[in-house]
Amino acid sequence: MEIVILPGSKQIGALAADAVEDLLRRKPDAVLGLATGSSPLPVYDELARRHEQDGLDFSRAHGFALDEYVGLEPGHPQSYREVIRREFTDRVNIAPENVHSPDGSAADIPAACEAYEEAIKAAGGVDLQLLGVGTDGHIGFNEPGSSLVSRTRIKSLIEQTRRDNSRFFKSIHDVPHHVLTQGLGTIMDARHVILIATGAQKAQAVRDLVEGPVAAICAASVLQMHPHATILVDEAAASSLRLADYYRHTYDNKPGWQGL
Ligand code: F6R
Repeated sequence: MEIVILPGSKQIGALAADAVEDLLRRKPDAVLGLATGSSPLPVYDELARRHEQDGLDFSRAHGFALDEYVGLEPGHPQSYREVIRREFTDRVNIAPENVHSPDGSAADIPAACEAYEEAIKAAGGVDLQLLGVGTDGHIGFNEPGSSLVSRTRIKSLIEQTRRDNSRFFKSIHDVPHHVLTQGLGTIMDARHVILIATGAQKAQAVRDLVEGPVAAICAASVLQMHPHATILVDEAAASSLRLADYYRHTYDNKPGWQGL
């Protein structure tokens, strides 16, 4: 696990966008794992800018959303399918048919989850997965207690997450209780994961996931077992890390050839 502490969102967005750009130049048909929420927005802004100004090409790329609410009507502005379209995929030249999300309105939820796993597999697996982290340590919507080897399935949101996400809805009563989410096992299959956390409200989750025990109470801690996990944090989100100085020193003295 590599921890990179940066001054703010702009630098985090640029560094994560560098990783996406390097990947696309190496592998134009790369499979991107796409998170929603506030954390990845600077990355999407930077990728949209590079597409527009530098011609960064997504025409052969694929995208898979991490998760989706259950029960929002199709086209609901807060459904993650819509959010990803609005915040990212409509702003670059990725083919709409190459962008997938779990079907939260499926009549047969287990079948929809299985189909999602199959679709990821058929695309060759996720090359680079972008992640945020919840204040309770969730990644995707794998809330505390999630199996560390789980696959895409339905989950119930914890009240804290519904409260956190109510900022996107008129009121907390409109936030669905259920979601479909890639499992922790699904996320762990991605070849590279980049988790982004900004702001003091994420400091405890960052400490737990980076320096706590690997335990389902902090689902993101499973990333300690990932062979290629990069954690990008701002100073506020890094403020509870015990080994912050070591992470800074390591990154500052990293061999140039290593990349992210
Ligand atoms: C979003 C997702 C969630 C968020 C997390 C943090 O697709 O899977 O795990 O990444 O809730 O959300 P923000 O970035 O809004 O703080």
